[in-house]
Amino acid sequence: MGEDSESGSMKVIDLEDLPNVGPAIAEKLREAGFSTIEAIAVASPSELSAAAEIGESTAAKIISAARKLADVGGFESGDKVLERRRRIGKITTGSKALDELLGGGVETQSITELFGEFGSGKTQICHQLAVNVQLPRDLGGLEGSVIVIDTENTFRPERIIQMAEAKGLDPEEVLRNIYVAQAYNSNHQMLLVDNAKELANKLKKEGKQVKLLIVDSLMAHFRAEYVGRGTLADRQQKLNKHLHDLMRFGEIFNAAIVVTNQVQAKPDTFFGDPTKPVGGHIVAHTATFRIYLRKSKGELRVARLIDSPHLPEGEAVFKVTERGIEDK
Ligand SMILES: Nc1ncnc2c1ncn2[C@@H]1O[C@H](COP(=O)(O)OP(=O)(O)OP(=O)(O)O)[C@@H](O)[C@H]1O
Ligand SMILES: [Mg+2]
Repeated sequence: MGEDSESGSMKVIDLEDLPNVGPAIAEKLREAGFSTIEAIAVASPSELSAAAEIGESTAAKIISAARKLADVGGFESGDKVLERRRRIGKITTGSKALDELLGGGVETQSITELFGEFGSGKTQICHQLAVNVQLPRDLGGLEGSVIVIDTENTFRPERIIQMAEAKGLDPEEVLRNIYVAQAYNSNHQMLLVDNAKELANKLKKEGKQVKLLIVDSLMAHFRAEYVGRGTLADRQQKLNKHLHDLMRFGEIFNAAIVVTNQVQAKPDTFFGDPTKPVGGHIVAHTATFRIYLRKSKGELRVARLIDSPHLPEGEAVFKVTERGIEDK
């Protein structure tokens, strides 16, 4: 049985198929970023009520119908969970030490969060993974394609070429398998996950599997747009929805999700508690990896794994060179 035998099962259902949702409400929902059944299924009644200008009890009915259709948040039997977990793939980071820290590499069906101060290597690791996921399986890849949601305009094809050449890959071919979109604001960023699903489905028909979705940076727009205490709950709700969407992508396509998050090096200037998951607790049944990166001497960087559900905490030292991410 093929590794992805189950992953093409995404149903295409229109919002208008939901009870109480006519064209006008569907339009309002789409405008507010609720463009898929999945997005509605994980929304809260108050969120949906505000977005569509409908009562909360109607919103609750719509959400519950969406949940049934989308099969989000339902229970899964243990054998199904095991079956899904057996399909988990791992992508090498380029550093054995860092791979070991992660239990073999960056996992599919999980969100891996790279956080650390500027220059700590978050974007470099993203570029390296975009190259490495394309490697054959025996070399630590998944022979997959990549989608990048770039919020800070830091994607550099020139850097991909350097890294691809270092791996003995055809740089042109590698670049052709990386699909990049700029996100102009947080709503656009969220919408791009829906677009990513469409693109991944389209590529699948052409025989290409998207195995990695990168959001670099996850937080920059959210931070810039939601300033001040009063807006924090709002931000968190949006962010939770975004992370849910990303997680769903990872599960549907058996893809790795990698997000970055810049934090200040000085603990007293941290935005919130650095050891707490950035988006609150996301999807409890699926693993999430948080890697704290910090600069060391010259090319050296230190990675620390923080509150992983099934791996011991530890540290790994690696370096960032012209060739990319390597062991020290
Ligand atoms: N071509 C290269 N050759 C060698 N080292 C490089 C090269 N490009 C980048 N680097 C290293 O990577 C560092 C930048 O790291 P990176 O862009 O990943 O930081 P970041 O964590 O994403 O920061 P920010 O929070 O600002 O986005 C540079 O300071 C340099 O040390
Ligand atoms: Mg960066």
